[in-house]
Amino acid sequence: MKNPSTAKVINQLMNGELRAAHLYWQAGGWCIERHLDGCAKLLLGHADEEVTHMKRMLGFLIDCEYPIYFDALPEPKIGAKTILDLFQAILAHEKTVTDNINAAVKEAQAIDDHSTFEFLQWFVKEQREEIKLFQNIIDRINLIGDGPQALYFIDTELAKFAAGNAAASGSSG
Ligand code: FEO
Repeated sequence: MKNPSTAKVINQLMNGELRAAHLYWQAGGWCIERHLDGCAKLLLGHADEEVTHMKRMLGFLIDCEYPIYFDALPEPKIGAKTILDLFQAILAHEKTVTDNINAAVKEAQAIDDHSTFEFLQWFVKEQREEIKLFQNIIDRINLIGDGPQALYFIDTELAKFAAGNAAASGSSG
């Protein structure tokens, strides 16, 4: 069953995933400028994950023979002054993505679009994991605090998150 409203919603989500990748690439650049290579590795790796999410949405549109619309990408602005600011902004971004996925799930349910509802379940789980990941990172940054060498320790910790994430994404796509 084809639904024009579903086509619109999944196109919006697909474009959101591409904007997310763009944001993570820029955030990685922010870290590189500050010699935070572990943080950059995590964020650039995460940008790759967002591309796989975008392709997952694209694949669904193709399978369902829905029209495909790519929007222009806005400039990804990073206003963070500190590494904590950066990850708080990222967590807020992921909460917005979660809200958008949840709204799409609700809409699929409302129109009895079981195929789309089932497709979106993967994203529901993925968002839960992403929120947990970035909340854990913020907790770790807060735990390390802002004493001498704090940035060095934060960067070392985030390199470990990057390694764990790379291993996990190899199995989840
Ligand atoms: Fe594709 Fe960060 O959610």
